[in-house]
Amino acid sequence: MSERRWDEVDDFIGDLLIGDDRALQAALKASDAAGLPAIALSPPQAKLLHLIARIRGARRILEIGTLGGYSTIWLAMALPDDGHLISLELEPRYAEVARANAERAGLAGLIEIRVGAALESLRELIDEGAGPFDLTFIDADKPSTPEYFQLALELSRPGSVIVADNVVRDGALVDPDSQDPGALGMRRFHELLSRTAGVSATTIQTVGLKGYDGFTLALVGL
Ligand code: DHB
Ligand code: MG
Repeated sequence: MSERRWDEVDDFIGDLLIGDDRALQAALKASDAAGLPAIALSPPQAKLLHLIARIRGARRILEIGTLGGYSTIWLAMALPDDGHLISLELEPRYAEVARANAERAGLAGLIEIRVGAALESLRELIDEGAGPFDLTFIDADKPSTPEYFQLALELSRPGSVIVADNVVRDGALVDPDSQDPGALGMRRFHELLSRTAGVSATTIQTVGLKGYDGFTLALVGL
């Protein structure tokens, strides 16, 4: 089973089930032209996130790690007209690209991008009483995922969903010799989940355009 075949299958899914929304294509092109790393979600992954938001009936969404706003746009497309999405981004240059992409997609009215270290921005959101969010998507620096999750929990309510990206990292998640800070962060994240009362979670391994990785889906207890 080759990685080329993984890509072919993602392309097949993209062609038949996802299509090529012009604003999303433009967002990827603008992100590439601005030199952003090509680490956005694949189209099938992004649509899964979009569908989770719709299944949840999400009206308020929190995203940690904006990059060029590709997943941000997919998530905002799941919101009702009076919905709101707050996305946190460390790099001012990425945030600018994402804002332009959101504008081009006609979704700027739903999307608020806050620049700064996410740990600080999350504490500010808690202080502001900005929660609860119906859905939080964690896709920022990997070592901090456990801390982002803990703060996201404070911004959740019973029934909220929290999704985290890149939790398997080529299997490094379970490699006892791995020194990769991201992989170690994801192991800590799973250990944290295992001892967090009132949260029900699973992790799904994925292959495709983004290689071998996975995501965690967590439901905050009802
Ligand atoms: C990286 C980050 C991501 O969010 C991702 O989906 C893939 C790779 C990275 O930092 O390498
Ligand atoms: Mg990611």
